[in-house]
Amino acid sequence: MLQKPRGTRDFLPEEMEARRSVEATMREVGRRWGYREVCTPEFEDLDLFTLRSGPGIIEEMYVFEDKGGRKLALRPEITAAVVRMYVNEAKVAPKPIRWCYFADCFRYERPQKGRYRQFWQFGVELIGADSAAADAEVIMVAAGMLKATGVTFELKVGHLSFMKNLVKDLDPILQRRVMAHLDKKDFDGLSATLSETGKSDLCRALTDLVACRTLDEAFAIAGDIPDKERVRQTIALLDASGLAYTLNFGIARGLDYYTGTVFEAFAENLGAENQILGGGTYRLAQLFGGDDVASCGFAIGFDRVMVALGDIPRKKDLVVAVICSDEGRARALAVAQAFRDAGIRTETDLSGRGIGAQVAHAAKSADFVVIVGKREAESGEVTIKDLQSGEQATVPLDVAVAKVAAHGAR
Ligand code: HAM
Repeated sequence: MLQKPRGTRDFLPEEMEARRSVEATMREVGRRWGYREVCTPEFEDLDLFTLRSGPGIIEEMYVFEDKGGRKLALRPEITAAVVRMYVNEAKVAPKPIRWCYFADCFRYERPQKGRYRQFWQFGVELIGADSAAADAEVIMVAAGMLKATGVTFELKVGHLSFMKNLVKDLDPILQRRVMAHLDKKDFDGLSATLSETGKSDLCRALTDLVACRTLDEAFAIAGDIPDKERVRQTIALLDASGLAYTLNFGIARGLDYYTGTVFEAFAENLGAENQILGGGTYRLAQLFGGDDVASCGFAIGFDRVMVALGDIPRKKDLVVAVICSDEGRARALAVAQAFRDAGIRTETDLSGRGIGAQVAHAAKSADFVVIVGKREAESGEVTIKDLQSGEQATVPLDVAVAKVAAHGAR
């Protein structure tokens, strides 16, 4: 028996219905903030991802050559693609541009709970607004979207300038190693790397920075950072909005295009893979041939949100089964269509079974059966039975439709 590829999942109807309802909730929050949906290709030129991150990222991606010898990659995330699209299609559009997306991404990772090789992100990119208000808006949208889904989460907000100010005298390769340790919260690794180079003081300062939870403490540890006023303003706006968050200057973000404000959210019951959202400010447009435009965005790990939410109570879809005898078969099509036209989920027999067998089958999943037998075919009425109450009546079709519709509206 063939199996699906490692790190991918199949979704049965119940799960798809739950996913679609959470997706709709997120989409609605995006709409209310003015973020309009865009869509980019599933695969892109490999350069789109290696230009900024270097060839090291190839290890973590699905990379292939097409029949024309082009090097392509399945997108590991959507931000780079959205910025490429901005440069290609919307450079002259009025700023700021508010875009959102819901799409699948592919990363060649070791699969485990909450970590897949194909996963979905719901993301937002705000392009062309360079202000504390812009950063604060994106963080508020992120928190609003997560909150609307009902997931319990902790939001952490930081700024890369503190960390960068502390490591600015290290050579660039060492800087990246240090940031990578911090991103993984690997303090033993950080200590080993820095003591190798005789920088134990720096290790202490970075560890203190990661632990501190107020702006003033962070300024005291990291010194005068270039974006001091902007950081203060962003935090003041977040406080004014009443958002629940903690400051965390240890957020380094794995992707290396972030420039300033960074934020992440964590859900409670996910185990090791508990980061459900990540984002921040970045500048990528110039790298792809555009102007040097400031951007800020985030992506929610949709699958992790679904795992964190667990079983979602769903509004049950009412089901009508139209049962017919051979004489009623032609009319049953029109009867079923009348229910469908009223927005009611309606199924008919496709196997030519007898009425008894059809009713027995319908009893497994339907709420109502509507019988179109010989008698009904002649009278122009239908017999409707509520399978839960057992109540049965022979009535005109429009009365039967109204009865089910009224039940659904309850
Ligand atoms: P990221 O942190 O790499 O950021 O991914 C965003 C979210 O996607 C993560 O917080 C996590 O919930 C989810 N995620 C990542 N990898 C996996 C996986 N293998 N399986 C399941 N979920 C996963 C970005 O991708 C940036 N593009 C976010 C952004 C948008 N920054 C600015 N704009």
